[in-house]
Amino acid sequence: MCGIVGYIGSKKPNNILIEGLKTLEYRGYDSSGIALQNKEKTQIIKSVGKIKNLEEKIKEENLINANIGIAHTRWATHGKPNESNAHPHKVGKITIVHNGIIENASVLRNILESQKIKLNSETDTEVVAALINYYYQDNIIEAINQTINKITGSYALGIMVEGDENLYAIRKDSPLVIGIGDKEHFIASDIAAIIDHTNKYILLEENEIATISQDNCKIQKDGKEIKKQILETDISAESRDKCGYEYYMMKEIMEQPVLLENTLKPLIKDLTQLPDLTKYEEIHIVACGSAIYAGMIGKTLLEDYANIKVTCEVASEYRYKKVFYSEKTLVILISQSGETADTIAAMRKAKYNGVDTLAIVNVKSSTIARESKKQIYIEAGPEIAVATTKAYLLQVAILALLSYKATKDKNGASIDLAKEIEMLPRLVKEIIDRRESYLEIAKSIYNNNDIFFIGRKIDYAISLEGSLKLKEISYIHSEAYQAGELKHGTISLIEKGTPVIAIVTDKIVREKTISNIEEVKSRGAKIIAITNSNLPSYDFNISVPKISDFFQPILIIPCLQLIAYEVAKLRGCDIDKPKNLAKSVTVE
Ligand code: G6P
Repeated sequence: MCGIVGYIGSKKPNNILIEGLKTLEYRGYDSSGIALQNKEKTQIIKSVGKIKNLEEKIKEENLINANIGIAHTRWATHGKPNESNAHPHKVGKITIVHNGIIENASVLRNILESQKIKLNSETDTEVVAALINYYYQDNIIEAINQTINKITGSYALGIMVEGDENLYAIRKDSPLVIGIGDKEHFIASDIAAIIDHTNKYILLEENEIATISQDNCKIQKDGKEIKKQILETDISAESRDKCGYEYYMMKEIMEQPVLLENTLKPLIKDLTQLPDLTKYEEIHIVACGSAIYAGMIGKTLLEDYANIKVTCEVASEYRYKKVFYSEKTLVILISQSGETADTIAAMRKAKYNGVDTLAIVNVKSSTIARESKKQIYIEAGPEIAVATTKAYLLQVAILALLSYKATKDKNGASIDLAKEIEMLPRLVKEIIDRRESYLEIAKSIYNNNDIFFIGRKIDYAISLEGSLKLKEISYIHSEAYQAGELKHGTISLIEKGTPVIAIVTDKIVREKTISNIEEVKSRGAKIIAITNSNLPSYDFNISVPKISDFFQPILIIPCLQLIAYEVAKLRGCDIDKPKNLAKSVTVE
């Protein structure tokens, strides 16, 4: 949610900032802006829409000679996505970019306005700029400290002060790293934004204030200087390359077989590397978006096979509801980014209540990875398309492996799936390679206004992600239903030709789901059945090999990803950057 990049050094900042923003565009793309500063002047250029609009606008401007700059790509929270609400915001001598939400912004706005301080935008960010400016006499650190004592909420801030040659940064509950270059420094919401320039960085902890010059970076908190460790990222500039694919989403779908191999093989060799879940009486799986749907697959497997009670809850609900913990509760947090605000809050709630936390996470330097008691990394590499594919699949794979291990631990060595896991990447590749059949299905459904997904038990959990993928990238209304539930109301929406995508893999409920398919078929639905068994012939049948229940979802998921992709493509959608979405949701 919103991306920040900043530069201080001897190069011209504008290209560095724009390229950084392009990498951060996954965090929001409704408007963007940059601010350049030299000893005398600050120049701000803003634009509505994607970064390319800002880039075009900058080309037409006479840029000042500057060696310090900050830039921002926005996902609107306070105020419409227009130029005056776009960041950077300048009040008096202070120019800032902000990621996060200031929760008491309207109260502070009233106080500022009662002091005759005029604000020009509807944003919470301008309130922060005004406050820092209000407190600023001659000591900017003091002014920043006074400001953070007044504001509540989350923030990562890049701050420039007119007439001051340093760049300043601070964060709380929103990510920010400081990149260390050769006689140059960067700030960024994600190290990926500056990876072309440096792989060395410092992680800023809560409310540490960074004073950054060309040659130096001083961190202080509560008046004390803090020595920070310099870290190195293993993300490479190449991993951000589209590799000839039209969209990152397709590249990321294609990477799945290799990633499954890389992630699962080392773990299957020695399952003791994975935590022992059998010592817990109850597991809470907490996450947001696709990650909670991965969790629902994990819940089914852990309950059905390892006999462990599991609840699944979206983090935005979990963080505020009454939760019953015991000494034998484990809370599993699933997150690609490791920075989702609600999931962080859920993790902190569990820790506060003294229970164990296990993060299934992709970004190793993220807050969730760092703060959780235990971690399992999914090793997906950078995921750039806003709609997750490979990270979700690997989350499911890890949960399947955890369930398999817990089942073995409980029931002895009666099952051995090592060979199956070895075959899995090849099977997934074969399923991905059937591109023509997904395109054929897409051509038959892409003009529909509503598409339904049905399944029971684990097939329902898979359907939820299939439906989410389709609606988020194609903008077709879609819902996933437990197959038996449709007739309690929603079946009234089924008309001649309404597509219903039915997933039928669970053997216990197979016959029941077939009956539910018949119910919608007899009302005119167009049936697309995805199965691992012999089914009656429908409008479209997709068959996948039958494998163990643990890993069966992994063969269904790519079919759903590719149907969604082809539908979105036929509808001319911007597949990697769907409207209104952001990949990393760092506000609640
Ligand atoms: C956003 C993304 C989803 C993702 C969700 C949770 O909504 O668009 O693809 O599943 O956030 O993100 P996380 O990084 O916690 O997995």
